[in-house]
Amino acid sequence: MNFENTLEFARTMDAQDPLRDFRDRFIFPESSAEHPVYFTGNSLGLQPKTAKTFILQELEDWGRLGVDGHFHAKRPWYSYHETLTSMVAKLEVCTSHSLTTNLHLLMASFYRPQGKRTKILCEAKAFPSDQYALESQLKIHGIPADHLVWVSPRAQEELIREEDIYERILDLGDELALVLWGGVNYYTGQFFDLKEITRVGHSVGAVVGFDLAHAAGNVALHLHEWGPDFAAWCGYKYLNSSPGGVSGFFVHERHAHSKDLPRLAGWWGHNKESRFSMAPGFDPIPGAEGWQLSNAPVLGMAAHLAALEIFEEATMDRISKKRDLLTAYLAYVVENCGTSSKENPLFEIITPQDPKKRGAQLSIKCLSAGKALFHALNQRGVVADWREPNVIRVAPTALYNGFEDCFWFGQHLSSSL
Ligand SMILES: Cc1ncc(COP(=O)(O)O)c(C=O)c1O
Repeated sequence: MNFENTLEFARTMDAQDPLRDFRDRFIFPESSAEHPVYFTGNSLGLQPKTAKTFILQELEDWGRLGVDGHFHAKRPWYSYHETLTSMVAKLEVCTSHSLTTNLHLLMASFYRPQGKRTKILCEAKAFPSDQYALESQLKIHGIPADHLVWVSPRAQEELIREEDIYERILDLGDELALVLWGGVNYYTGQFFDLKEITRVGHSVGAVVGFDLAHAAGNVALHLHEWGPDFAAWCGYKYLNSSPGGVSGFFVHERHAHSKDLPRLAGWWGHNKESRFSMAPGFDPIPGAEGWQLSNAPVLGMAAHLAALEIFEEATMDRISKKRDLLTAYLAYVVENCGTSSKENPLFEIITPQDPKKRGAQLSIKCLSAGKALFHALNQRGVVADWREPNVIRVAPTALYNGFEDCFWFGQHLSSSL
């Protein structure tokens, strides 16, 4: 498609967008700027207008019913999490806790170093919480810190070459216990071939798990088909499910009935038939639900339910189509914003150009202006984020951003430079 960096073109594109009405389902932060742009759905998604109604319903039921709300609330709390899974995938997906907690719970089961199979492979510049989680997993098992192996971009490159991941996995072979990989890298926005990572990881006998914080709600995921052993994601980014809101996790069907898998258990993961007999002896619910520890955090789940309803209506298919077009348009606008040139580049988009290798996020590396550029954008009403040492991350979100937002971002970028 031939793009144009004009307001008229952006408005024409918005007028043709089948998802344009979804913008009105969200609350945009207050701003005194003339053309504010919210481009940080990759960090905290906007509040669906329905979230308040869903949460108020639970507050009302809690007030009216007290403990009886577990069974008599409009959406009974006892089975609230099932309301969420019925919308995604029943046996393999469950929602509870938070992301890092879920990664630990899943690694407690799936990182089982034995003999020479002790190593963990992870992407360099993984989100720090993952790094700390992995370091601590090694410590818990008494495994030396250097058994955490990183795959880095090659010298002078920003992105990780996928062939380097596969080569490293094959090199490590029977020393590799776990591949824990981020679906979309938080810093560069690179979306990896999760199916192939799973295939290669399994070919050497390793377990494969994914952190999908930046992938869920952003790119289409076919976890059952791709076959990783486990995955977890947060609800508050592209899924718009409230700050610090509930996390989702996936355990592949092949582990659904593995009652003997070691795990950190809690009563909410125990057989529903006998949960209230309060007898000793943990009997896990088959599937992902068996990894739940505690009873449902209903207020967070209510916000999540409100957001999932919007996703169901919009469909991931339509979101993906718009995402590719919108992100391509933003890249075009950024590259044509006038002040930066090939001879004297002021910034560089380090996110892959191939739409199959990225989601909504573009990471703009500031070559000279540095953080001052980010602050200048901020003052003009752009909500984006800065990641050390020199990247501005922007994510046009298909559900509530439009082409006009991209156009104004380009204008703000030009005037900030
Ligand atoms: C890739 C990634 N992993 C893990 C986390 C940590 O998430 P939480 O604080 O919900 O545990 C984040 C948070 O932004 C993240 O981006």
